[in-house]
Parts: sequence; structure tokens; C-alpha cells
Amino acid sequence: MPVLDILVYPDPKLKKVSEEVKPQEIKSLQPFMDDMLETMYANKGLGLAAVQVGVLKRILIMDIAQGSIRYDGTHNPDAKPDPLFLINPEIVEESAKMFCFEEGCLSFPAQFAEVKRPEVVTVKFLDYQAKEKQMTFEKLASVCVQHEIDHLNGIVFVEHISKMKRDLIAKKLEKYKKRLAF
Ligand code: NI
Repeated sequence: MPVLDILVYPDPKLKKVSEEVKPQEIKSLQPFMDDMLETMYANKGLGLAAVQVGVLKRILIMDIAQGSIRYDGTHNPDAKPDPLFLINPEIVEESAKMFCFEEGCLSFPAQFAEVKRPEVVTVKFLDYQAKEKQMTFEKLASVCVQHEIDHLNGIVFVEHISKMKRDLIAKKLEKYKKRLAF
């Protein structure tokens, strides 16, 4: 399975709204979803949206169990892969209680910022087998699923922070990219 290239901010595609997937399309998208998973693991991400590899479809994947220690003190290096595939995800309920978390994004290498989001969300979606599912996510998993759903709507996490902080991250990202160019 090939590891796909990840688009880096400010790639204009990251601002586009992704399209709904037709249930009958899902089977033919399975190899692509497998590639997304391979790509996410290769980059040690917790989640990835299809748009981040240039495909404007409402697909996101996540795996909290395999998450990096940076994100969660409960990280277990022996954790077995536990991937979740969410197609056409939709938040049907969210808690009034908010949760603050220092988020990162594979489209913003080495950049982090604290974002406040609802602590618990319930999401309706189609799974890898095109089955209808509903799941409730808390804390880190909730942050992750909301961050990825944002991607499907053309929103990146820095849009949740102040313009001053956002500009600073954009500047640091420029520097980071220049360094990598050597
Ligand atoms: Ni992201």
C-alpha cells in the first residue's frame, strides 16, 4: 500500500468543502481508505481527512490507540491498531461542556495550538462496510473527530485561534518548510 503525499497549509485545496460519498461508492473507495491509513500511521497521526491527501470526499480516519505520546499520557506503545473509518460523518449531538487541547495537524508539520471544543460529541456516519453507525466520542477522541470533520468542511484548526496566533504559526511553518528544503 502506498504512502500518499500530505498537502501542507496553505494549500488552497485545504479550504475546499469535500463531497458526500454515495453508499454504493464505498466498496471501490476501500483501497484508497487503506492507503489513507498507511499514510496516517507512517506520519504518526491520530487522524486524517481525505482532503489532506488531495481527495475531496467526506472520508476521515482515526486511530487514538496508536496515537503519539505527545497527545495523551495514556499512550500505550503496545496498543494494537484500532482504526476507525468515518464516511459522511455528521455531528448529531455535542456537550455544552468544553475541552481545551493542544492540537496539531499533519498539514501543519511541527505546529501546535490550543483549541477549545465541545468535550463530548455524538457522530453519525457510514463505516468501511457502508454500514450506518453512531458513536459517542470523548476528550481526545472528540477533539480528533471534530478536527477531522472540520477538514471536510474546508476548515483548519488555526481558524479556531486568534489571528495573531494564526499568523505566528503561518510564519513558523514557512521557516520550517525552508529548513526542510535544504
Ligand atoms: Ni488536521
